[in-house]
Amino acid sequence: MEKYDRSQRYLKELDDGQHEIALSTDDLHVSYGTKEAIHGVSLAFERFKITALIGASGSGKSTYLRSLNRMNDNIFGTKVTGKIMYRGLDVNSNDIDVYEMRKHIGMVFQQPNPFAKSIYDNITFAPKRHGERRKAALDEMVETTLKQAGLWEQVKDDLHQSALALSGGQQQRLCIARAIAMQPDILLLDEPASVLDPISTATVEDTLLQLKEHYTIIIVTHNMQQAGRISDYTAFFHLGDALEYDETRKIFTRPKIKATEDYVSGHFG
Ligand SMILES: Nc1ncnc2c1ncn2[C@@H]1O[C@H](COP(=O)(O)OP(=O)(O)O)[C@@H](O)[C@H]1O
Ligand SMILES: [Mg+2]
Repeated sequence: MEKYDRSQRYLKELDDGQHEIALSTDDLHVSYGTKEAIHGVSLAFERFKITALIGASGSGKSTYLRSLNRMNDNIFGTKVTGKIMYRGLDVNSNDIDVYEMRKHIGMVFQQPNPFAKSIYDNITFAPKRHGERRKAALDEMVETTLKQAGLWEQVKDDLHQSALALSGGQQQRLCIARAIAMQPDILLLDEPASVLDPISTATVEDTLLQLKEHYTIIIVTHNMQQAGRISDYTAFFHLGDALEYDETRKIFTRPKIKATEDYVSGHFG
């Protein structure tokens, strides 16, 4: 199939020694019951870059993203086949410790979902469960992650207040801080700014641009301007396939496939 060959070729182009691959999928299929939602997607994600997944609603972006750290395991009746390669391991194999793997491949959801706990406890919750007990280390983690998420100045005097008292944009940045507290390699974000106002969106975008120095970021967005502003690479999803994958500027200026062009130009009017 044409689509499949092209993705494979791109995977090889990226894997030429110049570009370090952080994560890749090979012929990934995802079904809900008898209905296949992802039809064999092969993509490779470059380390310390931002890759945007774009496409119409229902094209499979969230399904694909969720499979990358096995969040689909939680949805009854879901079947995922194909390889998800991370540091020489197949994330999709049975003998992966999913709990451990998610320390390396973290996720931020569309709706900010802080725990009903203090700001401090939101960030330290998972690290404590993983055994970190030293107060100095936890304090430092809170400060560092809040700084990286662009929230420190606003909340440094309220660390023991409830996270639920924060605005939506602040909650989302707290969720980003919480995700990076585990120091993942890879951060998956599913439309993290879609429920935020334009100013909070801009702050979250700035945060992501800062974070790519340390993290590989894969972000689903239906906002084309956002993809253009922050991503290095863009994959265009259409009816459960990744039809086109390239540098973002090429996708936006010289797409090779008609469906991509229609989607991209439709949104720019
Ligand atoms: N939990 C689910 N159960 C059954 N079908 C689902 C589920 N989640 C998504 N789908 C279906 O999978 C397809 C892709 O959906 P999704 O991944 O949410 O697309 P997108 O994120 O691009 O909007 C759609 O046809 C959707 O109806
Ligand atoms: Mg979605």
